[in-house]
Amino acid sequence: APRKFFVGGNWKCNGTGDDVKKIVTVLNEAEVPSEDAVEVVVSPPFVFLQQATGLLRPDFAVAAQNCWVRKGGAFTGEISAEMLVNLQVPWVILGHSERRALLNESSDFVADKVAYALAQGLKVIACIGETLEQREAGTTMEVVAAQTKAIAEKISDWTNVVLTYEPVWAIGTGKVHDGLRKWLQANVGPAVAESTRIIYGGSVNGANCKELAAQPDLDGFLVGGASLKPEFVDIIKSAT
Ligand code: G3H
Repeated sequence: APRKFFVGGNWKCNGTGDDVKKIVTVLNEAEVPSEDAVEVVVSPPFVFLQQATGLLRPDFAVAAQNCWVRKGGAFTGEISAEMLVNLQVPWVILGHSERRALLNESSDFVADKVAYALAQGLKVIACIGETLEQREAGTTMEVVAAQTKAIAEKISDWTNVVLTYEPVWAIGTGKVHDGLRKWLQANVGPAVAESTRIIYGGSVNGANCKELAAQPDLDGFLVGGASLKPEFVDIIKSAT
């Protein structure tokens, strides 16, 4: 298959050091499909990245949940892409809907972050998705195309990008994924459209993952709530 199934676990702003130990123990003991069949990445809060990296099985990787838009400096409270590279954190989630909504991150700002993080050697889980209001206004494809365009204008190599579509309403439809791949084909190129993984986020759990994984244009998941529970292992298994 040209696109390896991707399962990301976004732990968001949850947990303690003990919780990290517990979740990682469950993951480390789990029997899951081989690395050839599924790429698994978990995303702890910044303060637990090193702990998780140290404990986690070598076939799973970690992602930060955000990083600063450019080189570090006088930006109190921010974490730079360089610091993540220095900690050997391979992935970063950028443009998550919660940051777009709660912290007013614009598509241009997210795109600048994606371009900068890629240039530093990070791999990026880039998130896009429309709000309920935008969906109700019938502008879904327009909105996600504009968010993707902002990124496409600032990067030329999509090899290290996983595109995540995540609105809760769309669970199970698969329609937007097809539209996004067609958008990439027309606006970026057929090779990028063929190789870029487009994953889904929004209430994925152990019970619905198998059916979702069967959607033809869906190449994996970004899991929130269920990534903190043992059922995350079932979601990983849905890769095969
Ligand atoms: O990053 C994950 C998405 O925000 C989905 O979260 O699985 O808790 O619905 P959820």
